Amino acid sequence: MKTPDSLRSARWFAPDDLRGFGHRSRIMQMGYGPDDWAGKPVIGIINTWSDIQPCHAHFKQRVEDVRRGVLQAGGFPIELPALSLAEQYVKPTTMLYRNMLAMDTEELIRCHPIDGVVLMGGCDKTTPALLMGATSAGVPAIYIPAGPMLRGNWEGKVLGSGSDAWKFWDERRAGKITPTQWLGIEGGIARSHGHCMTMGTASTMTAIADALGMTLPGASSIPAADANHIRMCAETGRRIVDMVWEDLTPAKIQTVPAFKNAIAVAMAMGCSTNAIIHVIAQAKRAGCDISLDDFELASRKIPVIANVRPSGDKYLMEDFYYAGGVLALMSELRPHLNLDVMTVTGKTLGENLQGAQVYNHDVIRSLDNPIYAEGSLAVLKGNLAPNGCVIKPAAAEKRFLKHTGRALVFDSYPAMKEQINRPDLDVTADHVLILRNVGPQGGPGMPEWGMIPIPQKLIEQGVRDMVRISDARMSGTSYGACILHVSPEAYIGGPLALVENGDEISVDVAKRTIHLHVADDELARRKSARAIPEPRYERGYGWMFNRHIQQADQGCDFDFLQTGFGKAAGEPDI
Ligand code: FES
Ligand code: MG
Repeated sequence: MKTPDSLRSARWFAPDDLRGFGHRSRIMQMGYGPDDWAGKPVIGIINTWSDIQPCHAHFKQRVEDVRRGVLQAGGFPIELPALSLAEQYVKPTTMLYRNMLAMDTEELIRCHPIDGVVLMGGCDKTTPALLMGATSAGVPAIYIPAGPMLRGNWEGKVLGSGSDAWKFWDERRAGKITPTQWLGIEGGIARSHGHCMTMGTASTMTAIADALGMTLPGASSIPAADANHIRMCAETGRRIVDMVWEDLTPAKIQTVPAFKNAIAVAMAMGCSTNAIIHVIAQAKRAGCDISLDDFELASRKIPVIANVRPSGDKYLMEDFYYAGGVLALMSELRPHLNLDVMTVTGKTLGENLQGAQVYNHDVIRSLDNPIYAEGSLAVLKGNLAPNGCVIKPAAAEKRFLKHTGRALVFDSYPAMKEQINRPDLDVTADHVLILRNVGPQGGPGMPEWGMIPIPQKLIEQGVRDMVRISDARMSGTSYGACILHVSPEAYIGGPLALVENGDEISVDVAKRTIHLHVADDELARRKSARAIPEPRYERGYGWMFNRHIQQADQGCDFDFLQTGFGKAAGEPDI
């Protein structure tokens, strides 16, 4: 238990010396007095609101609800703005900046008089970034998920973020949707604040934070526009103050069994492929040894039971909440969970799950009536991806789960865009499309380009899925037989760089294999003939990124941010 004297912030505010005077007088400059801070935990509220972050548009108000809770519980709230990482606007990809937000978070905590933090995020990369940074900083931390937006609506149809954009775009390319109808879709697909409401990366990562025990129980499922979300924010503000007194740090919550629980929940949710990268990175920050193998083991035994698109056929996150949300899903999943792990409530997961139940068994299925018998992700290995690659089998056409086809290679994203719709492109539905040099270094930042568009001439023939292989990622709202995260990536000379048009490639998801049918000596010859690409950046953040970014199977963290890289930073001198 902490006492007022042992608070971290007391080092700033308590001493009767010249530095202490400086800290107190400058807090008084803002109109606060000793009653506001003396002996109280200082709670940092790290807010990823900005004018160009639609998923967090409500955080400008919600932060006031967090403050209300902190004040009610006897804490001193301080809002600290951080990088907002809006998925739709940050180019080339938010993934280039996930680690920057993680550093932003860690250093904001370390350099300020902060005893505990509330982390406000939700849009894709913000969840792992905030949690990675807070994990490394080590003070008590609790996560506020932005909540999913309401269901989309257009001409009486329910629209899902991302998934329906891709689907209707293909229909428009096939000439079946008018420009006026398209405008209706633009206005109807995102009609409230909150993050994407399909089971994309945002819904996946916030559910993972919830399953890890880093949010109030069930917080991740509450729609952003629901009044319960406001109450959850105030309750989170109250809870963090007690967490400071209890010294309930992330290290006591984020253990190996907690990460395994999170992986089980991710599999059952029909999670985004991005989960695999973020969970590995976050676990490494927590000093937990979690690898692709843990995902592979879980995927063999845990079925997808959340009937939420794109793995499911019909429902969205709003329906998932009404069906009982992630607590209900975890109550179904009890046989696969370790219920003794600690959570931010100061109680175990098992205690938090008491009373949780499913209210709609079509939305949240039982283990013996899943929507897909195995987990959401499968990890494939072979000579084309010695360190692994990832596919989401439930979102692919079944016939492609075992497939052999000839390669059609694109060396870059611009080259693919330029060629893919040519009427004379030599391609059939059985071809394997390859997009390379789009990995962590090549992209740079591993953009979500892995759902390579179906060539226009095949779209017109009614083709809607093909086997596609890349070292990129794809949006969690995407679908199709897309094989992603090929490691090592092409840009640094991984085998993907050596594929030539017409080479045969076999994929067998049941066996978890991927094979390039080219002899080893021929691959060695191609490798020695390959030109080393130019560095992507010669200055700035990108320069640092390319020197320190790790490959996808390692979680794409910077090497120097990982726990165990050198001596811990420790507390600042004051
Ligand atoms: Fe923010 Fe999808 S754009 S979660
Ligand atoms: Mg996304």
